[in-house]
Amino acid sequence: MAQDTGALDDLLREDRRFPPPGSFVASAVVRDPGVYERAAADPEAYWAEWASKLDWFEPWHTVLEWNPPYAKWFLGGKLNVSHNCLDRHVEAGRGARTALIWEGEPGDTKTYTYAELHAEVCAFANVLRGLGVERGDRVTIYLPMIPEAAVAMLACTRIGAVHSVVFGGFSPDSLADRNNDASSKVLITADGGWRRGGIVPLKANADESLKTSPTVEHVVVVRRGGTLSEQTPADMREGRDHWYHELMADASSDCAAEWMDAEDNLFILYTSGTTGKPKGVVHTTGGYLTQVCATTRAVFDLHDDDVYWCTADVGWITGHSYIVYGPLANCAQIVMYEGAPDTPDRGRFWQICEKYGVTIFYTAPTAIRAFMRWGDEWPAKSDLSSLRLLGTVGEPINPEAWMWYHQVIGHERCPIVDTWWQTETGAIMITPLPGLTETKPGTATLPFPGIQATILTNDGKEARAGLLAITTPWPSMLRTVWGDDRRFRETYWSKWKDIYFPGDGAKMDDDGYLWILGRVDDVLNVAGHRIGTMEVESALVDHQAVVEAAVVGKKHDIKGEAIAAFVTTREGVEPTDALNAELRDHVGRKIGAIAKPEVIVFTAELPKTRSGKIMRRLLRDIAEGRAVGDTTTLADPAVVRRLQQMHEAEEG
Ligand code: WT7
Repeated sequence: MAQDTGALDDLLREDRRFPPPGSFVASAVVRDPGVYERAAADPEAYWAEWASKLDWFEPWHTVLEWNPPYAKWFLGGKLNVSHNCLDRHVEAGRGARTALIWEGEPGDTKTYTYAELHAEVCAFANVLRGLGVERGDRVTIYLPMIPEAAVAMLACTRIGAVHSVVFGGFSPDSLADRNNDASSKVLITADGGWRRGGIVPLKANADESLKTSPTVEHVVVVRRGGTLSEQTPADMREGRDHWYHELMADASSDCAAEWMDAEDNLFILYTSGTTGKPKGVVHTTGGYLTQVCATTRAVFDLHDDDVYWCTADVGWITGHSYIVYGPLANCAQIVMYEGAPDTPDRGRFWQICEKYGVTIFYTAPTAIRAFMRWGDEWPAKSDLSSLRLLGTVGEPINPEAWMWYHQVIGHERCPIVDTWWQTETGAIMITPLPGLTETKPGTATLPFPGIQATILTNDGKEARAGLLAITTPWPSMLRTVWGDDRRFRETYWSKWKDIYFPGDGAKMDDDGYLWILGRVDDVLNVAGHRIGTMEVESALVDHQAVVEAAVVGKKHDIKGEAIAAFVTTREGVEPTDALNAELRDHVGRKIGAIAKPEVIVFTAELPKTRSGKIMRRLLRDIAEGRAVGDTTTLADPAVVRRLQQMHEAEEG
């Protein structure tokens, strides 16, 4: 388990409690405490009530068909996601309302009304059709945080194409793997994007990936514009590559939305698992939109005058569900920011909050811990009085960071919603409701109404401490792993019968609140990003100097977890500092910068059991400088002492 029991006991002794402020109790979207009981008594009716707030071209005839582990929601229903996010609001006379306020890292800005966003999406949907994209075809989106990312996603949904958004920090190899796994027909990218004053060379990366992505027929390139285009002129290949603005110049903004079946695939999003190969998590249309729409409204207590900002990247599930689909389905006014929180200075996020009057702010614990480290003077420079609700997601939040968020950002006025969910769950699952739930620093509290979660032991017994389990199907659940039903069943449904295993450890306190403790599998959570230890190990052994590698997580003050690698080099290869740096770069090239190990320890051997299994628990102890436990099962107990010495030397 990710946390040792000492820290765990401390957590459960947390007795500070924060009841919802009176202003929330009076006017919250959800303020009837009976909602939990009502939803539990008839979850299908509860979800159907949310679904009926969407526009359906044809109604469903059955709410849920559950053939474990396969669920179908809203069977027979026909709808379109882009219609629900755009046309519906325009038709209701809200076309002039602000949909998207975008700010680039250099300070350039752009705003779209719902009518403008609708026109742009329709035109781009026609562009995609013109490139031969048909219903069910896959389209890869590899873009910076620019409005065209949302436009491209929505345009895919309009014509029934299945998007696969790849985070812009991923390497050409990772991009190629995803292009190939999904057999994408079209790739949408940009000449570049801004990050910390530098340019992310997306088109160059895309070109590299295309050398080994035979299915991609066309590439659409957005010109990020400004000085960027002069600095990195994109190399456009005749016939294959097309400028977004040129295609759009001739495109009609008249585009009928496809009538999609509730269970038609909406998107694929790759996420790390316990093997070297990322999984393509598949989400479908009706259930996904229902739950992201419901949770955005209820958890963030969305009202008409709110200005909503989620700081995630569209390359992750948070960006899909809580930048694009949930907020737009609710006709929210959203803020989107391209760059880093410390560019040009460490006050950037707070300047954005003040400038646009942000009322709802949703970010990750790793960011909160960085802000804390940077000092209170940065948020103090901006007027944060517009904020009324704060959210966090991505990893457990330590009570200290929670309290800082509450005091320094929320000025003790704003409820904090600590939301637990995953790429696979599609939408928020465990969370406070800001008008109802008394919060405590460090717990995501209770399952959202209509969701059933509990804690089970490995063999399926109810317990106060153990593994988080979701016991009943929910609308936005993943339907399968793209092209790999077997992996879907084995990863999530083989631990217990017909119960979903998320891979997290958890504890329940006396109020029934769930405290999520982190991953229990070989998946790391580095700064809120999921990285499989096997992926990093494969990248390391891919280097010709390496024969064997073992990767573990070690606690990190800001990132939550950092990557530590133990590496055995080929005979005759000198383990130098230069090789150390080269290996880190190699991992960056193979996967992306987020996967670069923080420390690499060279070792002549790894601690293995007599049957040859690497003892990761021991490596974690070593990486975190703890006393090493039982080593009697080791083939060579002396290895541990030697490793500890080398690790200490590495840490200085
Ligand atoms: C894993 C899912 C959900 C969007 C971002 C990450 C961890 C997520 C919390 C939270 C404790 C959390 C879990 C989960 N996690 N939210 N509020 N408290 N842990 O999505 O990459 O699919 O990662 O993030 O370990 O399994 P993801």
